[in-house]
Amino acid sequence: MGELDFPRDFLWGAATASYQIEGAVNEDGRGRSVWDTFSHTPGQVQNGDTGDMACDHYHLYKDDVALMSELGLQAYRFSISWPRLMPSGTGEVNQKGVDFYNRLIDALLENGIRPAATLFHWDYPQALQDQAGWTTPDAGKVFGDYAELCFRSFGDRVKFWITHNEPWCYAFLGHEVGAHAPGLNDQELALKVGHGLLLGHGEAVSRYRALNQGGKIGITTNHQHFAPLNPDSEFDQLASSQQNDWMNGWFLDPIYFGDYPEYLKKTYPMPVFTDEQKMLVSQKTDFMGLNFYAVSKVRYSDQGHNQAEQIDVPEIEHTEMGWMVVPDTLRETLVYSQNRWNPDEIYVTENGCAYDYPVENDKVHDVKRQDFLKSYLASAHQAIEEGAKLKGYFVWSFLDNFEWAFGYSKRFGIVHVDYGTQRRIPKDSALMYREIIRANSLAPAVASV
Ligand code: FCB
Repeated sequence: MGELDFPRDFLWGAATASYQIEGAVNEDGRGRSVWDTFSHTPGQVQNGDTGDMACDHYHLYKDDVALMSELGLQAYRFSISWPRLMPSGTGEVNQKGVDFYNRLIDALLENGIRPAATLFHWDYPQALQDQAGWTTPDAGKVFGDYAELCFRSFGDRVKFWITHNEPWCYAFLGHEVGAHAPGLNDQELALKVGHGLLLGHGEAVSRYRALNQGGKIGITTNHQHFAPLNPDSEFDQLASSQQNDWMNGWFLDPIYFGDYPEYLKKTYPMPVFTDEQKMLVSQKTDFMGLNFYAVSKVRYSDQGHNQAEQIDVPEIEHTEMGWMVVPDTLRETLVYSQNRWNPDEIYVTENGCAYDYPVENDKVHDVKRQDFLKSYLASAHQAIEEGAKLKGYFVWSFLDNFEWAFGYSKRFGIVHVDYGTQRRIPKDSALMYREIIRANSLAPAVASV
């Protein structure tokens, strides 16, 4: 591997999620999700934005796939909308929903793009939420049934499956902080929802193994490694370890080791796994899906959450989300994750940044996004050299889209979307990404500086 080259079989892709791009929320028998309810609740989403139309990908998927192909993407990570497939979350199947994903998957394959499907990227069926959702005893099994429907319908062609996207966000932001759907404020509930999500993950992996379809399955979590501000301070180390347990260990320790971290068990009212559940949840997965955005160092503080006060450094570049740009932390996180959980493979399933640039003569010169991608990819490259088994990278996002509680105010796409006309324009970052993919190397990007 040359200095800037990636390993020969490295997989290059881009990612999206159903509620963020599809639109067509009332079409062809789709049921409601908690995000429909939440975004239509006044005051919950910036500017009152909703995913009703989003990027209208439900209708424009063919053009979108053609654009992916022009950009040389080798893989596309999308999510399946559970209520589009099963309007009430369980029982009756909506064939028109199945047909949509069949059309999408076939279009991808015709263009030589590998589909990577996420089963749950937060658009939980409202009908299930109305019956206590993820905290009911059979919630995992209900998710398993939906997962099995997906495997049976699409598994002949989809060989890369992600059970959940960022369960920490769904549980914590949705049920304790209330910033995401379903907008609740109850810590104990958040922990129970997290537990239900873990059982659902295990159930889905079991169903997948039983079908013997020969593909890979894993889960995607949002990694945020909190390094101690002063590595020589025992207190800062403690703060770092507690915050890492809470942020990353909450989900990854049960998945890799069969139980919650000790710190969480002694600090929070964690639900308890039975022995059988421990085995279910910690069944072997094929890869670790790692989403990577925000970083910070922590110092010990009595006032801080988990005694960890996060340090913001104003002099460092921040994206429009307010997140610091510190590329080397991707390397640090990949190496830390490899050492702590020892996955067979890692895929960066999301990494990207929000910056808004104007369209000028049909072009978008998103210089900061290009810099971001170059530097984070260099960091990923370094992690491989240091032993992280990183096998692929999906940029977030293929398109500008509905950024949850921020609505359309944050643009993460490598492709610009005009929400009035639905016109797509590949930004300069997309053109740079194409060259990187083509060369399987950062060399062309570095040469263009
Ligand atoms: C992640 C989500 C994804 C997107 C990015 C910016 O937390 O998985 O849907 O919103 O953040």
